Amino acid sequence: MDVDDDGLFRGKDVGKQAEEKHAIVSFYAKLFSTGMKGKWDERVYIELYAGSGHSKIRDTSRIIAGSPLQALALEHPFDKYIFCETNPKALDALRARVERAAPSANVSYIEGIAIKTSAKFCLRFRLTLRGIAFYLCASSTLTTLESSSKR
Ligand SMILES: C[S@@+](CC[C@H](N)C(=O)[O-])C[C@H]1O[C@@H](n2cnc3c(N)ncnc32)[C@H](O)[C@@H]1O
Repeated sequence: MDVDDDGLFRGKDVGKQAEEKHAIVSFYAKLFSTGMKGKWDERVYIELYAGSGHSKIRDTSRIIAGSPLQALALEHPFDKYIFCETNPKALDALRARVERAAPSANVSYIEGIAIKTSAKFCLRFRLTLRGIAFYLCASSTLTTLESSSKR
């Protein structure tokens, strides 16, 4: 999904394969959010290495929307989104982009290291929710895409 340069922080340029990764993540997120709609109290999208929301493709002038913005643009959006990111500049830029792109979405931001933040909210999720989570925890490759649930 191409976007205009908004002048906010972006982080490192990415390879062209990022688009393929986004297509796969969006495909599974769409299956999940649509398939689980109406079956659980809450569908939660959790992304541990969220980034800034925009990435420039290396050696081109193209800027693409990151996976968090693509997840917010799904046909049947999740009920809640949790974005974790260790770099405060990236998290601030992501927050600004999300507020512009999806102002009414229910979004929480967690600044910190993925392994620590994930332990905290997994515990909270298990203890409090009657919902289901789409849990994206890989950074540069799509090696660990998993869902967790509790009825
Ligand atoms: C490639 S970017 C993510 C892009 C995003 N997932 C996407 O596809 O649009 C990876 C991000 O992970 C963040 N990061 C790296 N190590 C981290 C860690 N241990 N915990 C949380 N975030 C981390 C980096 O600051 C960077 O913004």
